[in-house]
Amino acid sequence: MEKKVIYSAVQPSGNLTIGNYLGAIRNWVKMQSEYDCFYAVANMHAITVKQEPAELRRRTLELAALYIACGIDPEQCALYVQSHVPQHAELCWVLNTIAYVGEMSRMTQFKDKSQKHAENINMGLMDYPVLMAADILLYGAQCVPVGADQKQHVEIARDLAIRFNNRYGETFAVPEPLILKGGAKISSLQDPTKKMSKSDENPNASVFLADDRDTIIRKFKRAVTDSDNAIRASDDKPGITNLLNIYCAFRPCTLEEAEREFEGKGYGDFKLAVGETVADALAPIQEAQKKLLSDKTYLAEILKGGAEKAYKAARRTLSKVYRKIGFYQGE
Ligand code: TYM
Repeated sequence: MEKKVIYSAVQPSGNLTIGNYLGAIRNWVKMQSEYDCFYAVANMHAITVKQEPAELRRRTLELAALYIACGIDPEQCALYVQSHVPQHAELCWVLNTIAYVGEMSRMTQFKDKSQKHAENINMGLMDYPVLMAADILLYGAQCVPVGADQKQHVEIARDLAIRFNNRYGETFAVPEPLILKGGAKISSLQDPTKKMSKSDENPNASVFLADDRDTIIRKFKRAVTDSDNAIRASDDKPGITNLLNIYCAFRPCTLEEAEREFEGKGYGDFKLAVGETVADALAPIQEAQKKLLSDKTYLAEILKGGAEKAYKAARRTLSKVYRKIGFYQGE
């Protein structure tokens, strides 16, 4: 039987947080042996907000190294840089012609980013979900492992796949988001009602995968909680619930086990334990990433191989799409 196809990506648009790791990358690793996986560094999405060119180039390689350091096996998956496969932009153009301005302008992330980058509301920002749909549909992905904030975008990819199939005949697989419990929505340490984000202006709000041990522990010590002193997960305790989720994901253990472990203990002890657990889990990843980045030739080879694998699959889909829509492709 043919393996199911999985697609996902992260933007090299800032320092990755433990939210990116727990919501996405960690889950990708678990799927790679069972599925046909395509994992990209989404540099074309990243330029929808201003990037410093040298930094974008450096971050692209750092992110590829991080994927491998987190356990992605480049032999098993296609690990590549989005801009190395031109079909992403080509399919995006075709999908643009069936995507409506109204639906794109209603996307939550577009509205948020338009507010945040009011001086730079460019066409690419609005087109972001269509490019994302092109990413997913090019490979016939049935399943897209992402954090909860990306659900709406995967739904647009579904809508566009169905719309295209209705108009031109069966062409695309209709993808499903895969949002796993626990790490799907890691919140800011300074405002637990907000998601933890790469681009938060307050450096204490996010724990970065590159943070050193002392920084990680200090950020958790300063995490905003509540004036109660019970360590249990509940809707009226968003700060503690977030810390428990993070603790359970890294330890790993269940919420019940963690609540039992910290019964009768104070917030200080708990926060220290969370900080230490996260620092312990990140240390080997940081070490592996550093080692990989010391061999740029090896990384370049990996990315070249990944792009070749992706290109083959993408070319096949695009040619089918061009045939369906009536683009002349020679005799
Ligand atoms: P990006 O770089 O913003 O986020 C990458 C992944 O991290 C998840 N994530 C989180 N998960 C849990 N808690 C958080 N606080 C948190 N913050 C971020 C995101 O849900 C995402 O899974 N647009 C995509 C990149 C992309 C993509 C694709 C994804 C481009 N093309 C095709 C899937 C399929 C994004 O959110 O990147």
